[in-house]
Amino acid sequence: MSLIRIFDTTLRDGEQSPGASMNIEEKLMVARQLERLGVDIIEAGFPIASEGDFAAVKLVAKEIRGCEITGLARANQGDIDRAWEALRAGENPRLHVFIATSPIHMRYKLQKNPDQVLADAVAAIKYARRYTGNIEFSAEDATRSEIDFLVQIFTAVIEAGATTINIPDTVGYTIPEEYGALIRTIRERVPNIDRAVISVHCHNDLGLGTANSIAAIENGARQVECTVNGIGERAGNASLEELVMALRTRHDKLAYETNIVTTQIYPASRLVSQVTGIQVQPNKAIVGVNAFAHESGIHQDGVLKEKSTYEIMTPESVGVPQNTLVMGKHSGRHAFRDKISALGYELSDEQIEIAFKAFKKLADKKKHVYDEDIDALIADEIIRIPHYCKLVYLSVNSGSVSVPSATIQLEVNGETMLGAEFGDGPVDATIKAIKRLTGTASKLLTYDVKSITGGTDALGEVTVRIEEDGLVVMGQGAHTDIIVASARAYINALNKLEYKKHNRPQVTV
Ligand code: KIV
Ligand code: ZN
Repeated sequence: MSLIRIFDTTLRDGEQSPGASMNIEEKLMVARQLERLGVDIIEAGFPIASEGDFAAVKLVAKEIRGCEITGLARANQGDIDRAWEALRAGENPRLHVFIATSPIHMRYKLQKNPDQVLADAVAAIKYARRYTGNIEFSAEDATRSEIDFLVQIFTAVIEAGATTINIPDTVGYTIPEEYGALIRTIRERVPNIDRAVISVHCHNDLGLGTANSIAAIENGARQVECTVNGIGERAGNASLEELVMALRTRHDKLAYETNIVTTQIYPASRLVSQVTGIQVQPNKAIVGVNAFAHESGIHQDGVLKEKSTYEIMTPESVGVPQNTLVMGKHSGRHAFRDKISALGYELSDEQIEIAFKAFKKLADKKKHVYDEDIDALIADEIIRIPHYCKLVYLSVNSGSVSVPSATIQLEVNGETMLGAEFGDGPVDATIKAIKRLTGTASKLLTYDVKSITGGTDALGEVTVRIEEDGLVVMGQGAHTDIIVASARAYINALNKLEYKKHNRPQVTV
């Protein structure tokens, strides 16, 4: 009874993070990593939302065998049919049906009274039963709902066949003691609760997602919904890595287990950041670059004498690469292959060959190639797939006396195009040239550049956020030349935009 099931919603709620978007191959890559991480359930999307979401859920359900796969559906037959169509190839597919239960949502959003909401919920669960016995019901905005109504609706949906009941803190409003008491009350007052698993789903608007999830566990919740890096709608969801490592590190007080392979946490964090373009804040617990960095002299001295003076868990335990074997131009295929798997990647022979060629090019320019460089290189060469637009070459001219200009060759939808532009600076000229060749109406909203490792020969990583017709996406690119990195980032964003244009959500949660 002390096993806590981890329900990962990175591919659904996580993808609702502003600017995040993953294409179908990227979603499958993340799903495979979640499988290695050992999550129990993967929520792969919201199939009715768009063709892209439907196809991604279908592919993930077909390919992933180590976890249950679920897809979200509103409490109506059309959503449930569509979700089931996507999920049916899965091994133990779960239908996840939700409806809002708070007075504010029922009145303004659904424009239904509680009796109608109750009837819809029960009818939806009964309908879902024709497909599977593995059904989760979520009472959206549960923490602002009336307790008597929650007890009534949970009792009714369990009676109708729901096997998991989820109690979301949709707007990240609750606080730990209150949420713990809510879970306890539901456990005590719902008469048939022994026939369902209690699940929690916390948003992080007050920074309490993890704390609230733990309070819920201590009061009987046995499934926690969370995301890698805590990404998700607005301020995000409870972070998977924080929850799992809190349970593990404080096992003395929290005697619960999970099936998570903690050494896969860091590779999962890197992958999710690379495919979504959402950078992890440096001081993010567990996976931020500073999470295991000791800056003060006193702390450094303590850690050198005895790690546990200032470290409550080891970086190795979450898979932060410790093998500081620096690669260089003399490193061979074998060492490269070893390094790739030490970093947590599982690549095909063909992908290793592509990455190895890029590594050799990089090692010619850069004396020491670090783990972070290899991460960036794999992201550029393997993870970010250019479906629509691809950079062939870029040549720029700039300096204190010349007018900056860029000449660029792109492949757009398989057609090779060449163009040149002047600009205020080399980045401006490059982006103008890309815009002219692709004909995009997108606007650059933000542009950030950071150096991946130290030194003037470091790789620069550029992140851009662009907008067109109300769609916002992020793109990333890395290169030793930051103008090339900028071009790659803009092109990556255009590829995401193109995908999103064809998969514009018709329905949102
Ligand atoms: O936050 C929420 O309430 C949700 C539900 C759809 C589970 O994401
Ligand atoms: Zn949510």
